[in-house]
Amino acid sequence: MIASAPGKVILFGEHAVVYGRHAVVTAINRRCYADVKKSSEIRIRSSIATTELDFDKHPYVSFAIKRFMSFSPISGVEIKIRSKIPVSSGLGSSAAVTVSVLKALDAEFEAGLTNEDIYEIARKVELDVQGRASGTDPFISTYGGSWLIPERKKIGVDNLRILIIDSQQSSVTSEMVSKVAKLRERYPEIIEDIFDAIDSISLRSIDSLEKKDFSKISDMVFINQCLLRSISISNERIDELISRLSRDGITAKITGAGGGGCLIGFGSDEAIASVLDNYPAFAVEPELEGVKIEH
Ligand code: PMV
Repeated sequence: MIASAPGKVILFGEHAVVYGRHAVVTAINRRCYADVKKSSEIRIRSSIATTELDFDKHPYVSFAIKRFMSFSPISGVEIKIRSKIPVSSGLGSSAAVTVSVLKALDAEFEAGLTNEDIYEIARKVELDVQGRASGTDPFISTYGGSWLIPERKKIGVDNLRILIIDSQQSSVTSEMVSKVAKLRERYPEIIEDIFDAIDSISLRSIDSLEKKDFSKISDMVFINQCLLRSISISNERIDELISRLSRDGITAKITGAGGGGCLIGFGSDEAIASVLDNYPAFAVEPELEGVKIEH
């Protein structure tokens, strides 16, 4: 049985969302595929390695299998993972792996799980591996679509071309979150004001995104990036990349934790075409479909 689940991008509001402000997040049309077959032993194959249950090399898949076993006994299973979502770059690849594996296990072993069950189990798997997590990635990967969080209000952002540019540095979410926490401890009143400004951007962006008003979207992207820079999660290489992109007609910002990972950018079709040719970049669109069985 093959199941797939999408990755995600945070359009606006990363970091501020950790302190209760709004963020705008969308599933993207890059998916992870899990091919699951009953077998006599447990085997997990991916581009990383071929292993048995291995909480080191395949932590998300291994915890997913372990948690699934409390719903349906498994004596053996062969799982093949194929992902079109770059890892450690803020695009939700871990959640997409977890959610697609759980859906395929459910179908193969006829466990009768609902998507809400799958989301709940994936959220626990995220906690098993990371210790602390908001549950946003498994939510978006399970249900697809574009959302205002934390209240999980659906928004209508279809057919929006989003450029993803790889900064070619890895991003470690926990490090970046603690960097911001330290800055906030030193200057609480300043940093809280910056979070409030980011909150206004997230709320203001919805109308521009729904109307595809690229001039306003670019303004929001520019201001949000300046604010992310002010809370120290950008770096020299990212700043240079953003300046270069700006000269090439693309307004870009960090997406996710920062310190590396991917940027998102918006611009004219010609500017996007030129960036796709000249940068480590690809284009995505919001994805309406969450986890599903592939036929
Ligand atoms: O880079 P990612 O996809 O792990 O996103 C992190 C987003 C933060 O706002 C920095 C943290 C969070 O849990 O929301």
